[in-house]
Amino acid sequence: MEIKEQTVLIMDFGGQYTQLIARRVRECNVYCEIKSYKTTAEEIKERGYMGVIFTGGPNSAYDDNGPKCDPKLFELGIPVLGICYGAQLMAQTLGGKVVGIKDNREYGKTDVEFNTSSLLFHAAKKENVCWMSHTDRIEQIPHGFKITAISKDCPVAAMEDIKRNFFAVQFHPEVQHTAEGMLYLRNFLYNACMCTADWQMDSFVSDTIVRLRRQIGKKKVLCALSGGVDSSVAAMLVHKAVGKQLTCIFVDHGLLRKDEGDQVEKVFKEQFDMNLIRVNAKDRFLSKLAGVSDPERKRKIIGEEFIRVFEEESAKLGKIEYLCQGTIYPDVVESGAGESAVIKSHHNVGGLPEDIGFEGLIEPLRDLFKDEVRRAGLELGIPEFLVFRQPFPGPGLAIRVLGDITEEKLEILREADAVMREEIAAAGLDKDINQYFAVLTGIKSVGVMGDGRTYDNTIALRAVTTDDFMTADWARIPYDVLEKISNRIINEVKNVNRVVYDITSKPPATVEWE
Ligand code: XMP
Repeated sequence: MEIKEQTVLIMDFGGQYTQLIARRVRECNVYCEIKSYKTTAEEIKERGYMGVIFTGGPNSAYDDNGPKCDPKLFELGIPVLGICYGAQLMAQTLGGKVVGIKDNREYGKTDVEFNTSSLLFHAAKKENVCWMSHTDRIEQIPHGFKITAISKDCPVAAMEDIKRNFFAVQFHPEVQHTAEGMLYLRNFLYNACMCTADWQMDSFVSDTIVRLRRQIGKKKVLCALSGGVDSSVAAMLVHKAVGKQLTCIFVDHGLLRKDEGDQVEKVFKEQFDMNLIRVNAKDRFLSKLAGVSDPERKRKIIGEEFIRVFEEESAKLGKIEYLCQGTIYPDVVESGAGESAVIKSHHNVGGLPEDIGFEGLIEPLRDLFKDEVRRAGLELGIPEFLVFRQPFPGPGLAIRVLGDITEEKLEILREADAVMREEIAAAGLDKDINQYFAVLTGIKSVGVMGDGRTYDNTIALRAVTTDDFMTADWARIPYDVLEKISNRIINEVKNVNRVVYDITSKPPATVEWE
């Protein structure tokens, strides 16, 4: 990986907001990396970090078994900001005292009073709301520190040692509920670490293109394009770098949404003149899926068939040295760069096994968060409807037709889903709701249409708001929008006589129904 000139280290102590802290730092146009709390002082020095941020974490700083940092890092002369557990760890390590809170555990929005002559709270309001979530607190600050913020139940809501450039906050500046959290972070990054906000998307795009051109040389690259934002942006970067040396294979498994396959083909083949091979493999997939109702088997069949089709097509192309993939930073972190609990494993349909026989992998988005990928996509001229496309699972509509899959069922679902998407967009809700779609439930029920009794399909509408898809809330779509969607589906989609709205959050439900 290229060495960025100014990088801040996010030291992960297993906190739930680690990635959020990193995103916020990037939003301040400062590049940062997440690494384990085990990173040594020597590594930190060698890498030349401009500053270090300690994340929160579930442990107690006074517990011998809790994660500790290398104490020598406090001797490097690098600014450090401790957040929550990170603040307590800093206090404990430098000679202060941390204790458990017996009665007044602070959780949620809390009023905090600031000393605005401190570096961290420069130009901030004297009193403001912050997000707290802790069961321990700093009882005694280490030598050289002074208290810079307090709350009703927290005598040390923040402290700093301006001489050594050490800062600690008990609350979470990265969380939206902390009203001026971004200001405190900017103060740390710009005024303590002396970073200059030079992490910009336009320079990322141009630097990456130059780097890819150098790396790839005259060799060939293959990419599995799905039409999702990550693979689209990754492919576009490679395309800008080496043009026709890149070939994209777009496997159309017949489980895409209405018109989706044609749109992808149009954008990449016609608009950008990419070498794109669309493989129309619907029949293969549907025959393999015939009669299969178990969701996990469906996923497995689709995943395997996808690889098979991809291998067959790439074999026709002769020798290709590199495989391009749309891996993004959260994937890298989740597979072990930080300390946060390893989260999901089942979402890799459409992914390819590592031993597929290439000389190397090209992963131009490895350092980017999703919002940065989108910005890079816009910078590259990819149309907004692709850049802001909601996530769509690799197995596609197969896991939204409950039970076994037939072409007729897919057709009903495609039409109902298209109506829902049109109406959500027409109501201007498409950027507020993170994922929304229709599900063919497999339930038939009695209805009355005109003068006759019907016995037909039930469509469920699903729409969620979420930051990370690990938890999600059902979207409060206005009734009149729901009414319009329902009316249109009943009137326009054959064989549907009932529409219901799913009002379950995740957990206990999942986003998808299968
Ligand atoms: P769940 O249903 O697990 O979904 O709450 C969370 C997010 O993951 C997507 N999802 C998948 N994506 N292959 C994928 O590529 C899958 O098998 C798969 N299952 C769920 C889902 O659409 C949501 O965004």
